[in-house]
Amino acid sequence: MISIEEMATFCKKKGIAFLTSEIYGGFSGFYDFGPMGVELKNNIKAELWKSFVQGRDDVVGMDGATITHPKVWEASGHTASFMDAMVGCDRCREKFRADTLIEDAVQISADGLSVEQLENLIVKHKIHCPKCKGPLSMGQQFNLMFNTQVGPAGAVQAYLRPETAQLIFTAFKNIVDIARVKLPFGIAQAGKAYRNEISPRDFLFRTREFEQFEIEYFTHPKKTECPCFKEVADMKVQILTESKKDLASHTIKDLVENKVFKSKWHAYWVASFYRWFLEHGIKPENLRLREHTKDELAHYAKACFDIEYKFPFGWKEIHGDADRSTFDLDQHMKVSKKDLRLFDEETKEKVVPHVAAEPSQGIERAMLAFLFDAYEDDKERGNIVLKLHPSISPVKVAVFPLVSNKPGLLAMAEEIHRELRKEFNSTYDRSGSIGRRYARQDEIGTPFCITIDFDSLEDKSVTVRHRDSTKQERIKKEDLIGYIKKKL
Ligand code: GAP
Repeated sequence: MISIEEMATFCKKKGIAFLTSEIYGGFSGFYDFGPMGVELKNNIKAELWKSFVQGRDDVVGMDGATITHPKVWEASGHTASFMDAMVGCDRCREKFRADTLIEDAVQISADGLSVEQLENLIVKHKIHCPKCKGPLSMGQQFNLMFNTQVGPAGAVQAYLRPETAQLIFTAFKNIVDIARVKLPFGIAQAGKAYRNEISPRDFLFRTREFEQFEIEYFTHPKKTECPCFKEVADMKVQILTESKKDLASHTIKDLVENKVFKSKWHAYWVASFYRWFLEHGIKPENLRLREHTKDELAHYAKACFDIEYKFPFGWKEIHGDADRSTFDLDQHMKVSKKDLRLFDEETKEKVVPHVAAEPSQGIERAMLAFLFDAYEDDKERGNIVLKLHPSISPVKVAVFPLVSNKPGLLAMAEEIHRELRKEFNSTYDRSGSIGRRYARQDEIGTPFCITIDFDSLEDKSVTVRHRDSTKQERIKKEDLIGYIKKKL
């Protein structure tokens, strides 16, 4: 596997992603996405939306504001608790996030530890500044929310949302009234989130502006049956449980029976996203679940599982899923004084719905995992091949006239490209040798290249070349769209 720095260089070269405002020296933690990156990102979001919103009867979508009433964050606990401990170098004055600094230095998990525990670990392991080797001093807790002033007089202090989730709770009543949903049901949202990370790093992995796709899945607090559970019961996953002794392969059914998962709904949603990654091309050996320890559970969570990917810089979280119980709705009822309970027709009582699962997917982290998994340096071909799942490939099909000085060939190729473009993201390329044109498409993961040659003018057929196998097939022009649709 290539390093994260090599991946960043590759992504810049291919127009996937690069540091923002480079002409002004860049702006740490913020990235721009180029022509290929925006397609890849949109495809990932579209696949998530298709799988978990449009493809289901029990999940509806929404899109909330990114700056909201400051009370939202007071109620959710973010104003008081969304903190990271900082550590500073006494010599070069650089600031670091304490838990990740310790994790990097001594390869232990330090997530969720108190300031005192972090300080003890720094002293115990004699950890010094990773930049200049100077001595370190513990700094204060640092709130990760970006703040801003709203209104011309700057009268209202507000925050950019650090997660999309809270908007689902604050819009809960409106959505329930309009969408006429019945428990159990989910509300999903995809959009930007902002965190003033102390040390953004590892390219797209830890940034200050990113996108999330989140679902709050609400269940009746007393009715816990999960009719979908059978869909995932026999699925095998690699898991590191809270005891951390055991990276093993288990079925989801076993994990529920052994009480690793306390609820079938939680198990179902974690497994569904794990399966989604496999179905979209991630190699099983690079994926695992990790159960959060009691120490690292967020202030709102009763239980939490991460899906981790094996990056070149270690196993890291790409997806989190917490059982948030009734924490958020309780808090918003308390602070807003509004009744957010639902009426249960059967028992004739009002209940506070339980968030049995909160699948929370970072889009850039998913993108990075897909890129690493797909990247292959093919020595025989002499170029990189990005073996992305076709559903997320930025470009689906590239059309080449064999030579660029024969008007008949050009006209046919352009016509085919125009037709394909109505259905898929198609690109047209007439410059350079065919080999060079194949290589260009391999490097951005285009699954199909179509060449129009001299025979095409006679037999109205074209050559389709497959990215992964380089196998070529002759296909009738009128069958092309159906053929590619089927393959995709
Ligand atoms: N609502 C729950 C929540 O936000 P989280 O574990 O803090 O939970 C969920 O974040 C996901 O968001 C992570 O698994 C990751 O994919 C993504 N994420 C979080 N912080 C990020 C950052 N600084 N840069 C990129 N992605 C991030």
